[in-house]
Amino acid sequence: MKNISRRDFLGKGAMLAGTTYPAMLALGLLKSAPAHAFNLEGNGNGKKVIILGAGLAGMTCAYELTKLGYQCKIIEARQRTGGRCWSIRNGTTNTETDKTTATANFDNGLYFNAGPSRIPHHHQLTLHYCKELGVPIQVYNNVNENTYYYAEGKGLLSNKKIRTREVHNDVRGYMTEMLAKNMDHGNLDTALTKEDAQKVIEYLMAEGGLDVDKLYKASARRGYIESPGAGNKPGKIANPHKLADIIQSGLMDPDFYNVAEYTYELQGTMFQAVGGMDQIAKALEKKVATMLTMGAEVKNITNVPEGVKIVYKDAQGEHAINGDICICTLPLPVLSNVNHNFSSDVSRAIDFIGYMKTGKIGLQFKRRFWEEDESIFGGITHTNNDLTQIFYPSYDYLDKKGILIGYYNFNEKAERVGNLNYVDREKLALEKGRMIHPQYDKEFERSFSVSWHKTRYSMGGWAVYSNDTRKDHYPALLKPDANVYFAGEHLTYLNAWMAGAFESARSVVAALHGRVTETRVTYPETGTKG
Ligand code: ALA
Repeated sequence: MKNISRRDFLGKGAMLAGTTYPAMLALGLLKSAPAHAFNLEGNGNGKKVIILGAGLAGMTCAYELTKLGYQCKIIEARQRTGGRCWSIRNGTTNTETDKTTATANFDNGLYFNAGPSRIPHHHQLTLHYCKELGVPIQVYNNVNENTYYYAEGKGLLSNKKIRTREVHNDVRGYMTEMLAKNMDHGNLDTALTKEDAQKVIEYLMAEGGLDVDKLYKASARRGYIESPGAGNKPGKIANPHKLADIIQSGLMDPDFYNVAEYTYELQGTMFQAVGGMDQIAKALEKKVATMLTMGAEVKNITNVPEGVKIVYKDAQGEHAINGDICICTLPLPVLSNVNHNFSSDVSRAIDFIGYMKTGKIGLQFKRRFWEEDESIFGGITHTNNDLTQIFYPSYDYLDKKGILIGYYNFNEKAERVGNLNYVDREKLALEKGRMIHPQYDKEFERSFSVSWHKTRYSMGGWAVYSNDTRKDHYPALLKPDANVYFAGEHLTYLNAWMAGAFESARSVVAALHGRVTETRVTYPETGTKG
């Protein structure tokens, strides 16, 4: 049997019947099911599901429900799918609530991701859908020691760009030096044996790059001021910055805490969709194209005895449609302006759960000076001003032109910048950005900015829970309100990630299908039945 060909084997149908699945796998005759295949049994028998919103959650619901025999219809207010999974290219338009529609005017082939730009390696469902839908992915470089810290202020190191590696290694060096010296002198009450304490000291010396006297001195970890080379060029290392200067310049303030890349979500390896994150939405769109009604703004969601009635408005006027079940994926700040007859618990949850204010600007440059002049390939520069961060693209390296994300900010900074008109946002991005990259003056071409909390049909970046809203309001939306289910990143603990949209979509599809086929499904989060 070892040498049997695939054709021979498959030709011998009788043998298949008695052959176990693992045995066939071992023989290489079957492909293993993807780790995240969605294996639900039973059939929806043409039940009509109306899905509100053609973002990732809505389209995933339609895609999966169609596989199970449901008849889906997706109502989408925009003329595009994807919701917040959105890449800005030439001709892209956006409408913010207090502004006229803006149109991007980038060169063909250039883009930036206004919404999600990075996929954690452990977001297996996102990666699963990339694979199932045939969307190629590539590595996203989130951490780059060659980017900068830039602190506005009055310290000796303020208003200067400092390479990230200098700050990281100097701070690490000083912290470990303090600890190692104090342990050595027995000043720290660690309750460790002498031998164990010695091990910790050795660890600290290695961690901080300390010398034999447990002192932090210049080290190649913090980079060279003259690179090593051939012949008599050993390279030159500068002295570390003084700890007091680092502190007084604000480089140890929360704006610069070195926690971003320590967080579980931002740890490498990270990925992105090749050619723009919107490729994921576009691939899903292909699967559900016949179900889409575009340019249709939801006005009313009504539970009726026999199912649901949805009223939407398009260019022709208002239309009412009926379905058996509805899945509402509208972001809550949008849903909060839609009429409905939900319970008071649901209604309160819609109004009380908060959303992030956030914005990004894409700046097109004639030349990728950050790569050519400064050897910055991907990663993030951090600031304490309204820019907050500059993101360098992790794609199309060494190309001629490129788009930088000139700011990516949150909360009150995003609110301040979002309140500016488009021209003033560009002005701010250039003024603050040229302090770090003076090349901006010569190389800048065009910009496009998005303020998510002002963007029609999104009205926020992502759901932000407090302990109270998670406890008091989140559970209300995890169950259907009669015939209306709720889905989206806001109904997960994966807020702000595409994985939230996918996980929530599956959770709701499983619950809905369980109800229709009368196989009871228990929501893991709440223990309530759907
Ligand atoms: N997931 C969002 C990001 O990557 C918050 O910035």
